[in-house]
Amino acid sequence: MNSKPRIAVIIGSTRPTRFADVPAQWILKQAQAREDIDVELIDLRDHPLPFFDEIASNLWMPSQNPEAVRWQQTVGRFDGYIFVVAEYNHSITASLKNALDQAYKEWNRKPFTAIGYGGTGATRAVEHLRGIGVELQMVSTHAAVHIGGGDFMAIHPAFGKKPIIEIEANLLPTAKTALDELVWWAKATMAAKAAEA
Ligand SMILES: Cc1cc2nc3c(=O)[nH]c(=O)nc-3n(C[C@H](O)[C@H](O)[C@H](O)COP(=O)(O)O)c2cc1C
Repeated sequence: MNSKPRIAVIIGSTRPTRFADVPAQWILKQAQAREDIDVELIDLRDHPLPFFDEIASNLWMPSQNPEAVRWQQTVGRFDGYIFVVAEYNHSITASLKNALDQAYKEWNRKPFTAIGYGGTGATRAVEHLRGIGVELQMVSTHAAVHIGGGDFMAIHPAFGKKPIIEIEANLLPTAKTALDELVWWAKATMAAKAAEA
């Protein structure tokens, strides 16, 4: 098995004035700097999913809505995921939860990590995401990047307005650990699937 893991950076906020692009572009750059993965940015704005309106999860029957099917095909192209996680009322955004619900088989037995941002670095949202991931038969990395507290305030356009590069020294060690773990799990799950096939 020689193929590099294909990793999607999935932006979980879709609102027009979102901050998400800053952490998304930053983690994309860190991931693209590695030679052991192929990385692609996936924006939920490009997948205008309805609120889940299928008869059942696609575990049980094929989805009908063409956008849901297209989304499943997108998710299915990757071996692992980096979720860009905003914290809305202590959880993930509704758009990310809906996108997670709109596939099932395509998430199974694949790893994910996260970059969260907010007052507490979206720690609560990332923990919710991990619980959802268990039900989707995914594996979470132990490490995740959290942009919180003074770092978040320093770079948010409503407050400090600084470029993210000014605080990146605080993020780089966990980003490396999180990406190392993601690659380990991606290779492990890919090898296990190949052995099973
Ligand atoms: C509906 C809503 C709920 C929020 N709840 C939280 C929260 O629970 N914890 C937190 O740290 N920030 C919270 N925030 C602030 C967000 O961290 C901040 O607005 C961030 O920019 C949101 O990400 P986005 O701009 O990419 O959508 C909330 C923001 C919104 C719009």
